[in-house]
Amino acid sequence: MLDQINNLIKEIMSFSASSVADIEEFRIKYLSKRGKISNLFDDFRSVSPEQKKIIGEKLNEVKKLAQAKLVEINRLFEPKSYKTLEIDYTLPGDPMPVGSRHPVSIVRNEIIDIFSRLGFTVSEGPEIEDDWHNFSALNFPEAHPARDMQDTFFIRKDPDILLRTHTSSVQVRVMERQKPPIRTLSPGRVFRNEAISARHHCIFHQVEGLYIDENVSFADMKQALFYFSVEMFGSDTKIRLRPSFFPFTEPSGEMDISCSLCSGRGCNVCKNTGWLEIMGCGMVDPNVLEFCGIDTVKYTGYAFGMGIERVCMLKYRVNDLRLYFENDKRFLDQFITSVI
Ligand code: PHE
Repeated sequence: MLDQINNLIKEIMSFSASSVADIEEFRIKYLSKRGKISNLFDDFRSVSPEQKKIIGEKLNEVKKLAQAKLVEINRLFEPKSYKTLEIDYTLPGDPMPVGSRHPVSIVRNEIIDIFSRLGFTVSEGPEIEDDWHNFSALNFPEAHPARDMQDTFFIRKDPDILLRTHTSSVQVRVMERQKPPIRTLSPGRVFRNEAISARHHCIFHQVEGLYIDENVSFADMKQALFYFSVEMFGSDTKIRLRPSFFPFTEPSGEMDISCSLCSGRGCNVCKNTGWLEIMGCGMVDPNVLEFCGIDTVKYTGYAFGMGIERVCMLKYRVNDLRLYFENDKRFLDQFITSVI
C-alpha cells in the first residue's frame, strides 16, 4: 500500500493542467468521493494495526498534496486581476470629444442673460397653437391681411390649429395666467411657410419680450432695448427706431443698430445705410391687454421680438441661414464658448 501511495504522490506532482476542464478532471480523479485518495482511505481500514500509523501519515500527506495542487492549478486559470495586468501608465490617453454649443443656443442664452439683468424671466409655450393665442388675442382681425404677413402652416382648419408663427403666443398665455407686473421673455422655435433660401427658412428662432406694469412708457422700452444692444453688440452701438406696423402694438417700431462692421460709414453688410434692422417693438395695444383681462386704465406695457438667427448672422458674420439648420459638424465645431 505504501508503494501505491508513493506512486500516487508522483502522479499528482507531475500532473499539469492545460485547460479549465483539466481542473475538474483532477478533482474527480483524486479528491472526489470515488477518487483515488478516497479509495485508499477505504483500503486503510484493513491495514494491520502496526502499519496504521505510518500509512495513515502517508495518506494524510497525499491528501494535503492533492488539495494544494488543486488550489495551484485553479490559480493558473483565474482571470488576471488589475494588479497583475501590465499597464503602461506613460501612454497618452484617448482624446474625449468635447461638444460645442449651437450658435443659436449661445446667442439665445446671451439674450436671456442680458434681459434677466433687467428682471425678465423666461416663459415657454406650445409650438402647436390655436388661432386665439397666435392671432385673435393679438388683435389680428378676422380675414385681415396682417394674417398673411405671417405665412402660416395650418394643421387643421375651423377651428384653426397651426404651428405658431411667433412666440407672442406665449405672451398671451402669460397675460391670461398672471397679474401685472409682468416681465417675461419667450424664446422658442417658430414656423412660417416660406421657400428655403440663404435669407429665409421655414423654421427659425425668436426671443420676444413683454413688460407690463403701471406707468410703462415708450422711453422705458427705448432704454431697455438700448441697454440690450450695447451689451450684445458692443459699447459703441447706436440704436434708431423707425415707425412700423404690428396689429398687437401701437405705436409700433422697427429697431436698427449701427453697423458694427463699418461703424455706420456704410458697407455691403448694411447695404451702405450704416444701419442693421434687428427687431420689431412697440407699446402693447390696449385691445390685447383687454383680450387677456388686464386693466387698461391701470396698466401699459411694451413688447419686442427678434429672430435669433438674425442676431447670429450679425454676430458671427455667417450669412447663409441654412447653415444653422444643417448640423454640419465642421460648422458647429467653430463655436466654442464659455457661455453655458
Ligand atoms: N411678433 C413679431 C414677429 O413675429 C415681433 C414683435 C414682437 C413685434 C413684439 C413687436 C412687438 O415678428
